[in-house]
Amino acid sequence: MTRRKIILDCDPGQDDAVAILLALASTELDVLAITAVAGNIGIEKTSLNARAVVELARAATPVYAGCPRPLVREPVLATHIHGESGIDGASLSPPNRPLADGHAVDFIRDTIRAHPPDEITLVAIGPLTNLACALIQAPDIAGRVQEIVLMGGAIGLGNTTPAAEFNIYADPHAAHVVFNSGARIVMTPLELTHQVLATHGRVATIRALGTEAARQVAGILDAYPKTTHFGATGGPLHDPCAVAYLLWPDLMGGKDCRVDIETEATHSIGRTVIEWRRQKTAANAHVLDTVDAEMLFRRITERLGRLP
Ligand code: RIB
Ligand code: CA
Repeated sequence: MTRRKIILDCDPGQDDAVAILLALASTELDVLAITAVAGNIGIEKTSLNARAVVELARAATPVYAGCPRPLVREPVLATHIHGESGIDGASLSPPNRPLADGHAVDFIRDTIRAHPPDEITLVAIGPLTNLACALIQAPDIAGRVQEIVLMGGAIGLGNTTPAAEFNIYADPHAAHVVFNSGARIVMTPLELTHQVLATHGRVATIRALGTEAARQVAGILDAYPKTTHFGATGGPLHDPCAVAYLLWPDLMGGKDCRVDIETEATHSIGRTVIEWRRQKTAANAHVLDTVDAEMLFRRITERLGRLP
């Protein structure tokens, strides 16, 4: 089996932590590195948390620190969601291994250039600052990367403002660069991720796995703020959906659309303006809105059970 080479760009972040574990537990994926970006919390903690989660999985995946702030706007954090640690609910040991040498943006640029076209997939589950900087430095990588699979945006209402989802809101200018780079983009917006809720029963099933990783994930999901959608209540597993697309695309559905990013607005900055109903403009993204959430949770749980 040819393992799919990915670079996982993230801002751990409670759901990022679960996404990292899912990726590291899946032998279909070859996680070349994890690149951290400021987002839910500052870069010091996102890069620290990423290393701690990698060591929870007993992996040796290098972690690179990336951009400490958005391209233009003032930073906004989500510590009210993820806590002052960035991964409230977890009780992880401090990492033993240091950060990898070099900047995340350089690693992304150089790794994509060093591989043949269509061999590297970028999975982005935080603000898109690192990816935007790499694409600005090296526009050629847009045509070399296999896909950019990202968690972000919304067809309708946001979760950070009425108009904007956090990852896009936190760096709308970076999102504009990425969505206009020409790279093939697959997007898991809130309409999809809000269907994947860590309900009480699902968290109990994960906890019953009895491993340390499962205990940590259950702790995170217990602490993770709950929401109610489609008659169910639980923490939405936003970021694992992006990794899950790579593993089980058959569980999801959507369509090709034009996506533009609002970068100059008073009330709707960071909105993903998606031609969902009527495609008048050439599509620049495959936008996913349906998912078999029950099957997805079963498969995520099985994968987490592979970790120590
Ligand atoms: O809106 C959800 C996204 O914002 C997730 O990536 C979560 O980790 C936060 O970064
Ligand atoms: Ca995230």
